[in-house]
Amino acid sequence: MPTDTKDIERKIGKLRETIQRHEHLYYVLDAPEISDAEYDRLMQELKKLEAAHPDLITPDSPTQRVSGKPREGFVKATHSRPMLSLDNAFGEEELRAWDRRVHELAGTDKIDYVCELKLDGMSLALWYKDGKLERGITRGNGSVGEDVTSNVRTMRTVPLSVSAAALKKAGIPADFEVRGEVIMPLAAFERMNDEREQQQFSRFANPRNAAAGTIRVLEPNIVAQRRLDFYAYFLLVDGKYFMEKHSASLEALKAAGFKVNSHYTVAHNIEQVIKFIDQGEQMREGLPHEIDGIVIKVDSTRLQDRLGFTGKAPRWAIAYKFAARSGVTQVEDILIQVGRTGKLTPVAALKPVSIGGTTVTRATLHNADEIERLGVKIGDWVTVERGGDVIPKVVSVLEDKQHPRGHKKFHMPERCPVCGGHVVRVEGEADHRCINANCPAKLRESILHFAGRSVMNIEGMGESLVDQLCDRGLVKNIADIYELTKEKLLTLERVGEKSAENLLAEIERSRKLPLERVIYGLGMRFVGERTAEFLAEHFGSMDALMDASLEDLQQVNEVGPRVSESIREFFDEPGNRKLVERLRKYLTFKGKKRERGTALAGKTFVLTGTLPNHSRDQAKKMIEDAGGKISGSVSKKTDYVVAGEDAGSKLDKARELGVAVIDEKEMERLLPKQPA
Ligand code: IVH
Repeated sequence: MPTDTKDIERKIGKLRETIQRHEHLYYVLDAPEISDAEYDRLMQELKKLEAAHPDLITPDSPTQRVSGKPREGFVKATHSRPMLSLDNAFGEEELRAWDRRVHELAGTDKIDYVCELKLDGMSLALWYKDGKLERGITRGNGSVGEDVTSNVRTMRTVPLSVSAAALKKAGIPADFEVRGEVIMPLAAFERMNDEREQQQFSRFANPRNAAAGTIRVLEPNIVAQRRLDFYAYFLLVDGKYFMEKHSASLEALKAAGFKVNSHYTVAHNIEQVIKFIDQGEQMREGLPHEIDGIVIKVDSTRLQDRLGFTGKAPRWAIAYKFAARSGVTQVEDILIQVGRTGKLTPVAALKPVSIGGTTVTRATLHNADEIERLGVKIGDWVTVERGGDVIPKVVSVLEDKQHPRGHKKFHMPERCPVCGGHVVRVEGEADHRCINANCPAKLRESILHFAGRSVMNIEGMGESLVDQLCDRGLVKNIADIYELTKEKLLTLERVGEKSAENLLAEIERSRKLPLERVIYGLGMRFVGERTAEFLAEHFGSMDALMDASLEDLQQVNEVGPRVSESIREFFDEPGNRKLVERLRKYLTFKGKKRERGTALAGKTFVLTGTLPNHSRDQAKKMIEDAGGKISGSVSKKTDYVVAGEDAGSKLDKARELGVAVIDEKEMERLLPKQPA
C-alpha cells in the first residue's frame, strides 16, 4: 500500500475515533465538549475523505449510521434466551410481599437489590460480534422478535463498535449481547408530534407508542430524523447473564460506552428500596423521558438463577408501578389555543389542582368532538389525568352532590382568536383550523415548510434562524423572506458576513424554482408535493389556479371535494390573496400545462422487485403519465402490485390481501397505446 493511502487511512481512523468520542459525550453522557457546528465539520471532513476513498468505508464508521435502503419488511429473529416480562407490584404492600417471598425462597437474610428507573419504552436486544454491532432485535413475542438492525444503527446511543481496549477495560468479551430499553425523549416526542400534525398525520398518544412505532419504520432515514435513545440494562454472553452481580454488569456496560441510566442504586433491604421509589416519584417530573415505575432486581446473578422463573416473568425481579396521576377539579373556562399548524385546540382552564406534585391549571379537550363526547360544560367538575402525554387531559365529568353540573355550553369560535381569520372545519374531520396563511400562530411552521428541502430548498434557513427571524419580526410571512437584506441578517445571532451572503444567494436561487414548488410552498391543507404538481400541470399558472372553481379543481387528478374545498377556502381568504400577490414579484407564477392521461386515473400501483425491461423510475413515470398513482406499501386500497424478479414481502402482502399481482407485460397492457 503506498504511504499516502496509509496516511489517509490513519487520518480516517483518527477522525472516526474523534467523532465517536464526541457522539458519546453528547448522546450518552449529555456532556458535549464541542459545538454542533464543529461536530458537523468533523463529520463533513470524514464524509469527504470516505467519498474519495470508498474502499476505506467500514460499516462501523459514524457516517454509516444511515446506509440502509428502505425495506419491504423485517425478518424474524430468535432470541438467544427469551426476553421475559416482569410481574407488577402496585403499592407498598405488594412489594413487601414479594420481598418476603424472595427471602423465603432464597433462605437467606442478606439480599441486595438493584433499583432502576422503569423507562417507558420497548425492550430491544443488541448482538455484538467481535466488538461490532451485528444485529438489533425487538422483543416481539419474547422468543422471536424482528431484526431491526438498520434502524438501530441510526441511534446514536448505540455504539456501532466497541474497541478491544474498551472491552478489556470493562471486562466484556468480544462477542456479547446487550438488552435494554428504546425510548423517545419527551422533547423529541413533542417535536415529532408537531411535525406529524403539520403533515396531517395523527399524533402518537405517548412517547412509548412513538418509540415502538418508530423502531419498526421501514425507512432508516426517517428513524434517524427522530431521536430514539437506548438505555442498556442487561449484559449477556452466550445467552446468559455474564457477571456475578447485576450492578457490576451495569458498570461494565457504562465503561464500554453504553448509556446506562445514572439513577440506579444498590439497596441492602426493602426499606432502602422504598426510599428509592419515593425519590423516583419525585424525580419523575423533572426527567427528560417518561418513567412508569421502578424495576427492582436481585443483584446476585447466582441467586437469580436459584430463584428462577414463573411462567413469563423472573421471580428475582419486579416492577413497582407508579399510581396513575389524576385529580378532580372544576372547569372555570374553556379557552382556545391556536397551534403552529393553525389547529384550534379547546383547553379547559381549571381551578388549580395538585397532581403528582405538579400544579395543574390547564387540560386539553382536544377538539369539538371530544367536548361533545365528554359532555363538558363550563362550571363542571372533572377528572384530569396526566398520562404519557405531557399535557394533562380531561377524562370525565363528575355529577353528584359534591360536584354539581355546570351550565355554560361552549361553542367553537368562527374567527381565529389570534388573527381574526376564518375558522373552518373540514367535513369528516375533528379539527377546526384557522386558514389565514399570515396568522402569526402559524408563522414559524409555515416558513420552515416553505424553506424545506422539497419545497423552496433554502439551505441555511433552519429552525434557529427561523426562530430569530420570527421573534425579531423580520419575517411576518413567507413573502418577507424575499425582502431580507444583508443588513437585516447581520443583526441576528450567529450570522456572519459569509453566512448572510450564502443565505441571500440561496433565497435568490429559490426564485427560479418551478410553479409546483411555489404552490406546495403555500402550505394549503391537503396539498402535498404530488397534488401541487398535478395542479401546476393542469392550470399552468398561479392565476388560473387562484380563480378555479370547485368544479374546475375537481378535474385535476386526485383532487376530490375535500382538497378542492381546501384550495378554494385558501384563495378566498383576503389575507392569503394579498400574500400571493406579493409573491408574484419574486417567484415563478407560470408553468407548463401538461395533459396526463386518464386511463389509470384513480388506480393505485405498488412496484416491487426488478422489472425485465424498465427501471423503477421509468415504470413509475409511465403509470403516473397515464394518471395512476404509485404507493410505497401494499394495502387493501392497492389496485395492482407490479411484481418483477426477486419481489419481496410486498408480494406476500398482496397475496394475503387478495390484491391483483401483475407482471410488466400486463402493466403495459393497461397503459394507453402509444401513437405509432
Ligand atoms: S428488566 C426479565 N429493567 O419494562 C427482565 N425492564 O414491564 C425484564 N423496562 O419488558 C426487563 N425499564 O420493556 C427491565 N430498567 C428496566 C426497565 C425495564 C423499562 C421495561 C421492559 C420490560 C417491561 C416490563
